[in-house]
Amino acid sequence: MLEIAILSLFPEYFRGPLETSILKRAQEKGAVAIQQVDIRDFTDDKHRRVDDRPYGGGPGMVMMPEPVTKAVQSARRVRSKVIYMSPQGRPLTAEKARSLAQEEHLVLLSGHYEGIDQRVIDREVDEEISIGDYVLTNGCLPALVLIDAVARFLPGVLGHEAAAEEDSFESGILDCPHYTRPVSFMGQEVPKVLQEGNHQKIAQWRYAAALAKTEQTRPDLYRRHLLSGERCSGQQKESALSRCGLATIRLTVASLKESLSFYKRVLGLRVGRKEERYALLSLGSINLVLMEGKLRRSDGPHPVLEVEVENSTEFDRIAHRATRAEVIHYGLREEQLQLLDTLTIELRDPDGYHWCLKCRQS
Ligand SMILES: C[S@@+](CC[C@H](N)C(=O)[O-])C[C@H]1O[C@@H](n2cnc3c(N)ncnc32)[C@H](O)[C@@H]1O
Repeated sequence: MLEIAILSLFPEYFRGPLETSILKRAQEKGAVAIQQVDIRDFTDDKHRRVDDRPYGGGPGMVMMPEPVTKAVQSARRVRSKVIYMSPQGRPLTAEKARSLAQEEHLVLLSGHYEGIDQRVIDREVDEEISIGDYVLTNGCLPALVLIDAVARFLPGVLGHEAAAEEDSFESGILDCPHYTRPVSFMGQEVPKVLQEGNHQKIAQWRYAAALAKTEQTRPDLYRRHLLSGERCSGQQKESALSRCGLATIRLTVASLKESLSFYKRVLGLRVGRKEERYALLSLGSINLVLMEGKLRRSDGPHPVLEVEVENSTEFDRIAHRATRAEVIHYGLREEQLQLLDTLTIELRDPDGYHWCLKCRQS
């Protein structure tokens, strides 16, 4: 059984969602036990205040360290994981939810006002988790979202054991469309293949429909799926990727092993497919094909490989890796690696290819 303690200023906030439907049944069945802790019970203030003005000025109030620390310590056990729900945390994903379902005891700390005194986070919190790139008024709803996402992975919570496995994200792509009776509704028919009962054909149709939906709404997942999946050949992947409007850069390299090591460790590229003398890698919108072969020095200097990285987090990650001392390990001299400004990284690979990575401003 997974035990969860929610620390907040509004224990009553959780009543409706936790006393309804699947989460209610999950508690009745003993799959999960949820305890409410009111942070105000840990203040000595006669008005039960738990917030104060921020040092350094600015708007809003900050939750004081003392009552929050006492509340966490009252709930914490030897094997607890203390999670602060925060827009500054790592994003909650299906993978994260699945791994949290393996824990014994979660302590979910909900922030209010401008947030919690940093010293509590530094001392008491194991992990910060965000439910998305937007800011809510407090952490109660994020805590509920996390509980709901985690509970689906607890044994016995979903009626049909395989249900969670078939949902969006589980196979790296979105779920397929679903239909129920009637077969015809306002002139729209349920696809014929779903009515016919051929399980192999139904599975193929569902995979194709799920892939099409993913390509349309989540090109990031689509690309990753194509690169990692075993369902298509290297060439099929490449042509599907170029259909997504993604540039493929082909480079001849002297040593595939050395180049792979460089691109994986310095730029953080993911290897989608590797054969003896061929590898396909991806990084955001870059698809890089490395072919081991003879470099024709007579062709003169390589052209500059100018690439836009669409996502600033991805760009920062590369900048962080590229500036780490280990780059020197790859034989890059200072002048080969330049952080021209925060939005451009220039570097050379082991074969002298000159990369210029720019962060695409949105
Ligand atoms: C108004 S927010 C504070 C936002 C904070 N000043 C900031 O900009 O990072 C109050 C509380 O709501 C919760 N919260 C707000 N947005 C969240 C999100 N996207 N994910 C998780 N928790 C969130 C956190 O517990 C946070 O302490």
